[in-house]
Amino acid sequence: MSSITEQTSNEDRMTRYRTDVAARRTRNIVQGLHHHAYIARNLEETRHFYEDILGLPLIGTWVERHNPVTNQRDNYVHAFFELADGSCLAFFQFKDQQYNDQTAISSFKQNNPFAHHIALEVRGFEALEEMKMRLRSGDIPFVETDHGYCQSIYLYDPNGMQVEFTTQVPRTDEMFATVAPTAHDVLADWLSQECLPSNNEFRSKEGWKPGT
Ligand SMILES: [Fe+2]
Repeated sequence: MSSITEQTSNEDRMTRYRTDVAARRTRNIVQGLHHHAYIARNLEETRHFYEDILGLPLIGTWVERHNPVTNQRDNYVHAFFELADGSCLAFFQFKDQQYNDQTAISSFKQNNPFAHHIALEVRGFEALEEMKMRLRSGDIPFVETDHGYCQSIYLYDPNGMQVEFTTQVPRTDEMFATVAPTAHDVLADWLSQECLPSNNEFRSKEGWKPGT
């Protein structure tokens, strides 16, 4: 059991850390995620998944007849599904289905999560449970894991894109307060050394577990 003195010094450390975090974020002109874009195989299938099952409202569908990349006439849509902070998951679909399917990053096969996934935050275990309930109701399989600094579930959308829903945990701030001061040194050490030991002592050793 820690002494009162140790508890007080940890509280002081966390107060200083939170003040530093607030200042660090104030200095950053990049406010947040605006949108993340991906090609959909079928935007109605994608709409049903994100809007009806996960609860992300479709807030805009832009029909585009000029392609700014090729500078040619084209025919595609860009549809935006909103998160609570106003950021969006956006999906394209080209009318030329062959072009659409060839252009998709993984041809709609399920992505290796290390190659690409997107993690979306939910606030607390109750919200994570609510998301699991939505997935079960839509017969969407998922897996779960404890990263130590956050707890997550993973699933695939109809386009093969892996989506993670994650929540902060009670120890999240303390874990980041510990690694923040050494982040640059640890990165340099890992790049220059063959076998640096893990500094994440709270990661679950169980790996992915099928969602229940
Ligand atoms: Fe992740």
